[in-house]
Amino acid sequence: MSSNPYQPVRTRLEDVARETGNIKTFLLAPETALPFEAGQFVQLTVPGLGEAPFTPSSAPGRGERLTVTVMEAGTVTGALHGMAPGAELGLRGPYGNVYPLDRFAGRDVLIMGGGVGLAPLRSLLLGLMQQRDRFARIILCYGARTPQDLIYKEQLKEWSRLDNLEVHLTVDQSDGAWDGKVGVVTTTLDDVELDAAGAVSAVCGPPVMMKFGTLALLDKGFTPENIYMSLEKNMSCGIGKCGHCRVGPYYVCRDGPVFAYSKLQGIKDLW
Ligand SMILES: Cc1cc2nc3c(=O)[nH]c(=O)nc-3n(C[C@H](O)[C@H](O)[C@H](O)COP(=O)(O)OP(=O)(O)OC[C@H]3O[C@@H](n4cnc5c(N)ncnc54)[C@H](O)[C@@H]3O)c2cc1C
Ligand code: FES
Repeated sequence: MSSNPYQPVRTRLEDVARETGNIKTFLLAPETALPFEAGQFVQLTVPGLGEAPFTPSSAPGRGERLTVTVMEAGTVTGALHGMAPGAELGLRGPYGNVYPLDRFAGRDVLIMGGGVGLAPLRSLLLGLMQQRDRFARIILCYGARTPQDLIYKEQLKEWSRLDNLEVHLTVDQSDGAWDGKVGVVTTTLDDVELDAAGAVSAVCGPPVMMKFGTLALLDKGFTPENIYMSLEKNMSCGIGKCGHCRVGPYYVCRDGPVFAYSKLQGIKDLW
């Protein structure tokens, strides 16, 4: 990390891949590596416009190259979507806490993502697969509005063929070519038999999905301390100084973005 915490590292955009109509994956090459662990986020600068936080979607590690998968939402993300390989960007970080993988060890791990929420979870999933023997079953439940809105389509096919990863996909609305499940992502839990009381889960997606996903996991038997969620609150400094990202007693940038649900229960306006 730079000695000035606000000073971004010069970063070259190396590649851009379209995922859906409004989501792209950007391969970034910072001049100085940004080693990160699953769960942490970075602040990405578009020169002259500003910066925005993203959780890397690539495997955790040395951070010489990393990807972010970004949905077009406003100024920074809109400009990013217009950029081509070779563009100059900035990165600072990584910031925030990490998934406590020691607590995951030996247990079944269920990852539940909605829409672009699979992006930060892909980093976690790839991290788990790097140390596959440490965990019992790894189960991915992922849903999007339509088949076209699923991200990482090719990788989802590859993951579905692995025998040490269970993949459950669904879409809210089918199209002619889709022969998979139709229904919101929580319905995939009906297809998963497991001892939820001893398992852990990680959830990320739009607020409504986080809410109903968490309720469905509790209903399934997961305990609040074993449901981890990655919160995406509006941020500014990213380092616990400005208060923009406050949720109840926490600053998401400093105390999160990964929280066990047991820490968030009872906070008003959480969703
Ligand atoms: C820790 C963290 C990790 C994130 N990871 C990802 C990721 O992997 N992929 C991804 O696509 N997005 C991610 N986001 C969300 C992303 O940071 C915002 O979409 C981005 O900041 C929007 O910037 P903008 O300048 O394009 O939009 P702006 O012009 O700032 O705003 C566009 C609209 O979006 C709203 N908005 C801005 N930021 C957020 C936010 N964080 N949550 C909800 N609404 C917001 C604004 O109020 C406005 O209505 C993450 C956010 C956080 C905090
Ligand atoms: S973004 Fe400034 S305190 Fe969290």
